[in-house]
Amino acid sequence: MFGAEILEALLNTAHRARKGKLPDGTDAYRIFDGGGDGREGVFVDTFAGHWLVSFRDRAPREILSSRLPRESVWFKRLDQDNKLAPTCAEGDPERAAFTVREGGMHYHIDFGAGYSQGIFLDQRDNRALVTRRSAGLRVLNCFSYTCAFSVAAAAGGAESTTSIDLSRPYLDWGKRNFELNGVDPDEGEHYFCRGDVFDWLGQFRRKGRLFGGVVLDPPTFSRSKGRGVFRVEKDYAALAEAAARLVGEGGWLLATCNQRGLSGRRFASFVRDGVRAAGRRVAALEDRPMPPDFTGEPYLKSVLVDL
Ligand SMILES: C[S@@+](CC[C@H](N)C(=O)[O-])C[C@H]1O[C@@H](n2cnc3c(N)ncnc32)[C@H](O)[C@@H]1O
Repeated sequence: MFGAEILEALLNTAHRARKGKLPDGTDAYRIFDGGGDGREGVFVDTFAGHWLVSFRDRAPREILSSRLPRESVWFKRLDQDNKLAPTCAEGDPERAAFTVREGGMHYHIDFGAGYSQGIFLDQRDNRALVTRRSAGLRVLNCFSYTCAFSVAAAAGGAESTTSIDLSRPYLDWGKRNFELNGVDPDEGEHYFCRGDVFDWLGQFRRKGRLFGGVVLDPPTFSRSKGRGVFRVEKDYAALAEAAARLVGEGGWLLATCNQRGLSGRRFASFVRDGVRAAGRRVAALEDRPMPPDFTGEPYLKSVLVDL
């Protein structure tokens, strides 16, 4: 086990190494990434100075003696079977909600909302990509959670955004994210579809709806009524197929998955298989690395397919 001084030195080094690698106007990023920064099982993210310390086994309370400046420190146990909200270990526990900036965009964060806080920092570079690739396009965001990809598309000049999620509260949170960025979610072409992605994809196909860009970012495991359990290994190709059928000529599909243990090659093969099963040709496929502040295990796989 490391002592407080060693952890402080590791934190300092890791923090310094990240300076200059983040887009301008960004105050939410990973300060310390487990084994990638010298200590397995401990992850520190800053959300506008509010630290979220995630850990696998034991809360690394020695972090509290760090002299690095911050507003508050929250601890979160990583446990997929018992998903609890973080607890406040330093600072004002009433200040659980605030706004962060990423590439000049604003997103609402709430440490009191449960196991997830409102934005997945590991998708930062993919959000920037969506902003770059959305001008004039109709963009579909599947498994949208708080609609961060949709906000990124709107910022890039998307003609319309369509966000699909099972959860109404998450879609409402998404509308708030639009408002934070000066976009009225009830004006213009922003659609928020509550329900199962597979059902919506089928409905869009029957209606002949096409999109210029589609984002697919499902959870590794999801249960839905009538369809049983979605698992990446068994179902991703079918999901990619249903999505690829909705991509217009010259459009793109951004497919991601954060299943540990699944190789990037295998994941890309699921996506390729799905695209081909849809009768579409892969014009280009780009493997996308994780953002540079994620120095540990590259668990997030992302491929951008041009069709
Ligand atoms: C990993 S999060 C997606 C993160 C999001 N793409 C982002 O970048 O912020 C998974 C989301 O999928 C939603 N979800 C899970 N199963 C679903 C399904 N079958 N249909 C629609 N949404 C689903 C959950 O409610 C949750 O918001």
